[in-house]
Amino acid sequence: MDAKDFDRWVDTSLTAVEAALDGLVPVQAPAGLGEAMRYAVLGGGKRLRPLLVLASCESVGGNVFAAMRAACAVELIHAYSLVHDDMPCMDDDVLRRGKPTTHVAFGEAQAMLAGDAMQALAFEVLTPDEGIEPALQARLCSLLARAAGYDGMAGGQAIDLASVGKPLDETTLRDMHRRKTGVLLQASVLMGAACGPLSAVARQSLSDYGAALGLAFQVVDDILDVTQDSALLGKTAGKDQEANKPTYVSVLGMEPARALAQQLRSQAKAALEASGLADTRWLSLLADCVVERDN
Ligand code: IPE
Ligand code: IPE
Ligand code: MG
Ligand code: MG
Ligand code: MG
Repeated sequence: MDAKDFDRWVDTSLTAVEAALDGLVPVQAPAGLGEAMRYAVLGGGKRLRPLLVLASCESVGGNVFAAMRAACAVELIHAYSLVHDDMPCMDDDVLRRGKPTTHVAFGEAQAMLAGDAMQALAFEVLTPDEGIEPALQARLCSLLARAAGYDGMAGGQAIDLASVGKPLDETTLRDMHRRKTGVLLQASVLMGAACGPLSAVARQSLSDYGAALGLAFQVVDDILDVTQDSALLGKTAGKDQEANKPTYVSVLGMEPARALAQQLRSQAKAALEASGLADTRWLSLLADCVVERDN
């Protein structure tokens, strides 16, 4: 296995995810809502969460159809969270994935409704008439609902907005980042793994891997907000400082934040080693992508 194998796997997976999303997000929905949903979901983003679902499913030799549905469902939740995160009442951003944000393109009310509909669609996608047994449908819905809800992403976003201008301590910052970003990445790993047979040890190891990787992801997001430009990020750089948001860079400083990202990558890889799973190479390489990415 070399880096080319991984690149090929990523390319094939991204093409498949894009095609699946294209087939699942409606063209026809009342009053142009489908157009706003497709604008927010298709043709952009790194698709890291879907890749984690698929890699995790491969590591357990799971149901590929279920994993592709799970990959699309997680991406729908993520894309909805971006639509709402960018709205004027939240981060007030005009650029996302290299395009005007959904509320800029379609108006605030339509963007809010597109986000609402994308969230509901995620659960519709997980409950098809055929191809995923009912117990797995329920398990996938449960993992996703918990990660997206009050105790996970939405809760983390609430902490984020309540923390503007506040000098958070590291424990509170970690908790906010874990919730607003980390748990959905962790859920991606667990949903992929749920598609196949899983020992208790492997489940715990993948959960630990997802937790470390998920936190690393937001630490790097905070770093890139400072170090990259808007063209490369496809979103407005320097936004955290402008909005007075506590981040890993503002609380710890740049070098400690970088060191933490490296440390979390090592933790993620150690968890994979402990899983007892035969093949976790894609998951391991995805941890490298999270820490080494430049956008
Ligand atoms: C951005 O996520 C928002 C965060 C949770 C930090 P991504 O960096 O994964 O955004 P896309 O999907 O590639 O646009
Ligand atoms: C967003 O965090 C987390 C979400 C749940 C969307 P940020 O506000 O830092 O994400 P960006 O930097 O706008 O992508
Ligand atoms: Mg935000
Ligand atoms: Mg934001
Ligand atoms: Mg950010």
